[in-house]
Amino acid sequence: MCGIVGYIGNKSAAPFLLDGLTKLEYRGYDSAGIAVFDAHDVFIEKSVGRLDALKEKLKGVTLDGVIGIGHTRWATHGRPSDQNAHPHTDCNGEFVVVHNGIIENFMPLKEALIAKGHHFTSETDTEVVAHLIEEFYEGDFAAAVRAVLKKIEGSYSLVFMSEKHPDTLICAKQDNPLVVGLGDGENFIASDIPAIISRTRRTYILNDGEIAIVKKDSVEITDREGKPVDKKIFHVSWNAEAAEKGGYEHFMLKEINEQPKAVRDTMSKRVAKDGSRITLDELNWSKEFLDGIDKVYIVACGTAYHAGLVGKFYIEKLARILVEVDLASEFRYRDPIVDEKTLVIVISQSGETSDTLAALKEAKRRGARTLAVTNVVGSSIAREADQVVHTWAGPEIAVASTKAYTTQLILMFMLALYMAQLRSTVSDERARELIGLLKKIPAQISETLSDVEPIKTFARRYGFNEDVFYIGRSLDYDVALEGALKLKEISYIHAEAYASGELKHGTLALIVEGVPVIALATQKSVYEKTISNIKEVKARDAVVIGIAADGDEEIGKFVDHVMFVPDTDELLIPLLAVVPLQLLAYYAAITRGCDVDKPRNLAKSVTVE
Ligand code: M6R
Repeated sequence: MCGIVGYIGNKSAAPFLLDGLTKLEYRGYDSAGIAVFDAHDVFIEKSVGRLDALKEKLKGVTLDGVIGIGHTRWATHGRPSDQNAHPHTDCNGEFVVVHNGIIENFMPLKEALIAKGHHFTSETDTEVVAHLIEEFYEGDFAAAVRAVLKKIEGSYSLVFMSEKHPDTLICAKQDNPLVVGLGDGENFIASDIPAIISRTRRTYILNDGEIAIVKKDSVEITDREGKPVDKKIFHVSWNAEAAEKGGYEHFMLKEINEQPKAVRDTMSKRVAKDGSRITLDELNWSKEFLDGIDKVYIVACGTAYHAGLVGKFYIEKLARILVEVDLASEFRYRDPIVDEKTLVIVISQSGETSDTLAALKEAKRRGARTLAVTNVVGSSIAREADQVVHTWAGPEIAVASTKAYTTQLILMFMLALYMAQLRSTVSDERARELIGLLKKIPAQISETLSDVEPIKTFARRYGFNEDVFYIGRSLDYDVALEGALKLKEISYIHAEAYASGELKHGTLALIVEGVPVIALATQKSVYEKTISNIKEVKARDAVVIGIAADGDEEIGKFVDHVMFVPDTDELLIPLLAVVPLQLLAYYAAITRGCDVDKPRNLAKSVTVE
């Protein structure tokens, strides 16, 4: 997830580019760059670090060019560095490109281009696009762009500039946002509306497969074959703050709604095309490697720890290796039994959590093999671990973690299945079945997000209770822990999660008339037991809200309300069951007037002990 801007008109491009990037910095902030074309040359400046570092480099530089593009990066392929920052160019610097997304087939394309004599200067997937256009260009800029788009697979919003066509910018969209802002004698391009809202409210919002040929006085939109598309102007009515949140009231809600894409991106390129295997190319493990491991330790904090609990279930169930899960703040002082036969997996959205980093260092000191699961390329944890697999959730701004959790879950699932396939602990048939269901998860999350009205009603009805209990068995218990954390951290309601079977060992004493109990009942293998626990709390007059899979015709008999999620395998259903719990926490916090994105006493990244 990166930010993109472009300008073409009569004014100097650079001020708009830098202003637009400032508005988009929430989309990515590990490096930034701009390219401006003046009368003769393309001037490019880029810098690793926040946008201020780029602005510092540009101090004292006079840029008069009236056409330019810019980018603020959230690294996916290639660590944050000056070289990997966008814009990228072809061999001769004649074509310049900025990109948001992932070019999935960039490796074979890059190899073929290198074989033809192209010289690459970065580790990014994007650079292949610049070299491809050099390869296809025969005098017609738009035709060359269309030829490039036919070659690349994956997701993108792209903006192209060429010194051969100083009156034109061309942009294209697939699975990533792109908008063209319409001015008088000038036009703007941006990945998101906040970048252009101070300049114009008249826009074309591009659809997948569309290409815009943008000049200072005209915008022509075509499909990928070059056929004109008749486009209606969209008038933006949001204020600047709402625009930054994509029209949502809070970053948390925006991020909850980004989960289908975040999960899809995290899966992308990691499932064989024929649906038979998980392909975690970044690991390149073998059966021999896994045979040398007798125990896995998963170490993390907060929500990432909850994802680790689910990860334990996945690895033990599928790959049949013993897994311990520990809080990083405990692990580091526990004198853990860890040696060179232990694989320590640390999970961290930010890659900067100090306890997790310290635990990782401790594990390494004891000789363990280490793997980081993180959302931030080039973060301290990513650099420290022996190996890294990234979640592709894009920047998470809200303190309450949502899309990071679901992407961590999907990654832990894929990791477990990858290990299982190497160890032959799942049959080919079962693997195919699970992969088939895995691919449906993004659409099923979208379905879960499509009807929030009942959740809002529950939040209004129970949002002022002092205590809420979450219960569940097996994976439902792990999801209950995450649901309770979400509720307490943003609504300040006392929320506790219990393994349903533990109720009668103490907690049942707290269940009195009218106490809300959220009962997760999605795990078919323990369904009957869960129902009998629900009966226990109902018998104490609790108000029970069940979370169940579509098609469950029993649950309604035992609970006061039900929230259904789409049905899938019980291993995958946590990815769906957590969504109503995130939304419930969100709307409860709204009901209570809490500051959702910045809850009291909490910080997004805990970099102190
Ligand atoms: O960046 P990390 O994943 O290492 O952060 C770990 C926790 O601090 C984090 O998950 C925290 O619990 C969230 N605020 C929960 O929503």
